[in-house]
Amino acid sequence: MSEMQKEFYITTAIDYVNGSPHLGHAYEKIVADIIARAHRSLGESVFFLTGLDEHGQKVQQAATERGMSPQVYCDELATQWQSFVERLNISNDDFVRTTQPRHQEVVKALLTKLHGQGDIYKAPYRGWYSARQETFLTDKDRLPDGTWDSAYGEVTELVEENWYFRMGRHQEWLAQYLENHPEFVHPEYRRNEVLGFLRSETLEDLCISRPASRLSWGIPIPFAPDYVNYVWFDALVNYLSVPASKGDPATASISGLTRTTTAIWPPDLQVIGKDILKFHAVYWPIMLRAAGLSLPRQILVHGFWQKDGQKMSKSTGNVVDPVAIVEEWGVDAFRYYVVRELDVGPDGNWTDEGFRQRYAAELANGLGNLVNRSLSMLRKYRSGRIEVVSKELAIDAENSVRGVEQCLRENRLQAGLAAVWTLVNRANLYVEQTKPFSLAKDPAQAGRLDEVLYNLAESCRVLAVVLWPFIPDTAERIYAQLRVSGEPSRWRNSAWGGLQVGHETGDPVPLFPRKDLPLKS
Ligand code: MSP
Repeated sequence: MSEMQKEFYITTAIDYVNGSPHLGHAYEKIVADIIARAHRSLGESVFFLTGLDEHGQKVQQAATERGMSPQVYCDELATQWQSFVERLNISNDDFVRTTQPRHQEVVKALLTKLHGQGDIYKAPYRGWYSARQETFLTDKDRLPDGTWDSAYGEVTELVEENWYFRMGRHQEWLAQYLENHPEFVHPEYRRNEVLGFLRSETLEDLCISRPASRLSWGIPIPFAPDYVNYVWFDALVNYLSVPASKGDPATASISGLTRTTTAIWPPDLQVIGKDILKFHAVYWPIMLRAAGLSLPRQILVHGFWQKDGQKMSKSTGNVVDPVAIVEEWGVDAFRYYVVRELDVGPDGNWTDEGFRQRYAAELANGLGNLVNRSLSMLRKYRSGRIEVVSKELAIDAENSVRGVEQCLRENRLQAGLAAVWTLVNRANLYVEQTKPFSLAKDPAQAGRLDEVLYNLAESCRVLAVVLWPFIPDTAERIYAQLRVSGEPSRWRNSAWGGLQVGHETGDPVPLFPRKDLPLKS
C-alpha cells in the first residue's frame, strides 16, 4: 500500500471533565473548528481532535462526595460534554478521554521508554500543596501578606517520595528552538513570554507522580505501581495517544504499531488558552524531544473571555452559558459573534448588548437581509429563474474571496469575517444603487433587472462558500434556498459564475430572524 499523505492535525486543549462547559471552552472549539473546516474546504485531509481530561484529585473527590465511582461519574459528565460539542457543530474527527484504554496504554508506553532511557528518577519532595489546583506551590506563589490566593483552596505542607522527569537539562535547547522557530508559538508576544521565562528562570525537573495512597484516580506508573501519573503529563499525552493507537508510523517508537493507512503525527496546530501556555510550550516539546518524536508545528494561543468586564464566575452568576445562547439565537449567531468580536490572541469581553447589536446589524440586517431580498426579488420578478449570467460584482467577489482565503491560511479569523463582510456590504449597497424594485416597474429595463438579479444571487452563492468554515449551517441553508446542487464546503465553488441560465432558485426563509426583545437573563 502506498504511503498516505500526512493529514493536517489540529487539536484543542482537553477540558476538565468536572467543570461545566462555558464560553471559554466553546470559543476554543469554535476557533479550532473554523480552521479545521477551512483546511478541508481548501482540499486538505484533516484530523481534528478534542476531548476530556478526566483524572486527578478533584474528580476523585467529586465522585466520592456523590457516592459514585470516578469512572461512572466521568462517563456521565462525558455525555454532557460530547453533546455540548455537537451543539456547537464542531467537526471533530475523534473525541479522546484520558480514561480510555487507548490513551492509558500510550501513557504507560511513553513512561516506560523514558524510564528505560534514564529520563525518570525518584527523589523526595517537600512542598506546599494545593489539592484544588493539584499542584505544589512555591514561596513565589504567596500573596504579599504571605497567605495563598483563595483560588488554591487549602494549602498544606507535604513531604513525599515522587518520580521526576529530567526536564531541566533541555532548557537551553528549548530556548534555542524557540529562537530558531519563530512560528512555534503564536502570537509573537506569547512566544516572547516563553522565551523570557526560559532566559530568566531555571527550569526544574518535573514531578510526574503522586502516591496512589493519596490519589488513586490516575494512570498507574508501569515501573512503580504504588504511584499514579501526575495529571499534566497524562493530559498532554492525549495528543499523541490517538495517532499512536491508530498505528501512525511516525509514533511507532512508542506504540510499536505501524499502519501505513494513518499519517497524522505531528500536530500542525494546537489551539490553547493563555493559562496553559507553559505546559504546552515548555513541558510538551521537551517530553516529545526526550521521546525522540517530532514536535508540533505551531501552538496557537488565544486569550480569555470576561463577561461585562469581569472574570466569569459561577458563584456570582457572572457567566455566559453557550447552550442557552445557542438555543435562543442559533448556533451560527453564537459562532459568528465570538469570532467576529475577538481576534485570536488578546482577551475579550462578552456583553449581551454587544451580541445583540452584532446580531441585528451584521447578521439580520447585513447577511440575512441580503439573501432574503435577493431571493425574494428573483422569485417575485422572475419566478426564481436565472435569465442571464453577468459579471458586474465578479471582481468584488473575487477580492473578498482572496482576502478571506489569505486570512484563513494565516488563522486570522476575525479579519477573515471582516473580509467576508466587504462582499455582504458591497452587495447590499448594489441593491440600493441599482434599485431593482424600480427597474421592475419599467419593461424597458427587463434586461438590466436580469443582470442585477444574477449578481445578487451569485454573490449569495459565493458568500455561502466562504462562510462555510465559520457558519456551516447558514452556508448550507443559503445553498438550499438557492437550490444549488453541490456543496458550499468546497472552496473551489467560490469561483464566480456558478449559477447558470435556466437555474431556478427556491423560496427565501429568514436566516437570522429579527428579534426586538432583550436577551433573556
Ligand atoms: N485540562 C486542562 C487542559 C489540558 S490540555 C492537555 C485545562 N482544562 S480547562 O477545562 O480548564 O480549560 C480548557 C481550555 O479552555 C483551555 O485552553 C483554557 O485556556 C480554556 N479556557 C478556560 N477558560 C477560559 C476563558 N474564560 N476564556 C477563554 N478560554 C478559556 O486547562
